[in-house]
Amino acid sequence: MSESRTSSPVNPAPDFAWPREGLSRVPFRLFSDPEIYAREQEKIFRGPVWNFLCLELDVANPGDFKTGNIGDTPIVVTRDENGELHAFVNRCAHKGALVCMKERGNASALTCIYHAWTYGLDGQLQSVAFRNGIKGKGGMPVDFDTGKHRLEAIRVEACCGMVFGTFSEETPDVEEFLGDAVMPFLKRNMNRPLKLLGTHSQVIHNNWKLYAENVRDSYHATLLHTFYTTFKINRLDMDGGILLSDKKWHHISYAKRATLNESAEYSDAKVHSAQFGSDLEGPELLDAWDEFDDGITHSIQTMFPTIAIQYTLNSLAVRYFSPRGVNETELFWMYLGVEDDTPEQTDIRVRQGNLTGAAGLVSLEDGCISEFVQRGTTGSGHHNAFMEMGGTEAASSKNSRATEASIRGFWHGYREIMGFD
Ligand code: FES
Ligand SMILES: [Fe+2]
Repeated sequence: MSESRTSSPVNPAPDFAWPREGLSRVPFRLFSDPEIYAREQEKIFRGPVWNFLCLELDVANPGDFKTGNIGDTPIVVTRDENGELHAFVNRCAHKGALVCMKERGNASALTCIYHAWTYGLDGQLQSVAFRNGIKGKGGMPVDFDTGKHRLEAIRVEACCGMVFGTFSEETPDVEEFLGDAVMPFLKRNMNRPLKLLGTHSQVIHNNWKLYAENVRDSYHATLLHTFYTTFKINRLDMDGGILLSDKKWHHISYAKRATLNESAEYSDAKVHSAQFGSDLEGPELLDAWDEFDDGITHSIQTMFPTIAIQYTLNSLAVRYFSPRGVNETELFWMYLGVEDDTPEQTDIRVRQGNLTGAAGLVSLEDGCISEFVQRGTTGSGHHNAFMEMGGTEAASSKNSRATEASIRGFWHGYREIMGFD
């Protein structure tokens, strides 16, 4: 640890009380209150959770580095000469400048441009410019010890092709953090030799928790995203369910396309597909192959607080979202293939990438719907969201996704970690 580390004060938000109805009510204040945002930085992002830092393949070789953020804090991930992973705060131990200015690269050491303090790939200070002054004059005190200065270390762990970091020594390892109920499904999708097919990012104009809700919101998925429904990719009248982790913080939503048994409720709900016919000019967009023998053709898996892994047809992607202030969030998408995919399989995965993203056929709606909530709730901090679809508890639902159980699970974890009883 750097000698300069001090604990920052936490705003106790003394006037905040959760509505007595519990998890089925969420105060709109949580999406726009800067004091609560500051508390989240300390309690969540610097607290006992695993934060997504990068993919392992982002730092595949010795000397590779990748910058990013944990909440508001800039960070760097490196792989050292011995192949070991490290992560630290991207903040010079001298006066706090960013040390690493590039998004990614390969280097034997990291040198701060301000006064040229140089750090090893393990974050340890190696040298200080003009340490002994110039021509015997000036310089650091004789007892200055480079061994006492380093970039602030972050605990790091790789799991299923992803690199996670935490500031907390209390966080159990990633597998235990996720829990037995949902860990096998993460391995199903991610525990393979992966290759990167493409990335993009977008800024969304809403509080980060609205996106955390959105990726857990199985109720909206086939109503807002009419493409899913129209082209029968994901519908609630397919077999599917919701699996919450043991602690309820994380979840999996899944559907089996081959089990579609069309239900009249879609007509009653005035969903696009029930009112208009639609055809694809390029039906090969939906070409897919059976990759697993469990029948699951669509899934979203979340990890508290800010990770979602999508598997739609054969499109596998890690989505990671990072707060950029109380009402702005940056959303990153990393599309993945498997190293031994055939060229045809890679083509299919790349084509299906068109379903999602800022200009995608399905999830572009998510890029604006949370902003509509942000705008709709501004000035109404004393009102609450109402979420009783599927009951009022946060529990797994093995045969229905017409539920807001996963969102209630997120708020269960949020309340626990924020101390909002
Ligand atoms: S701030 Fe980095 S060397 Fe001075
Ligand atoms: Fe969505």
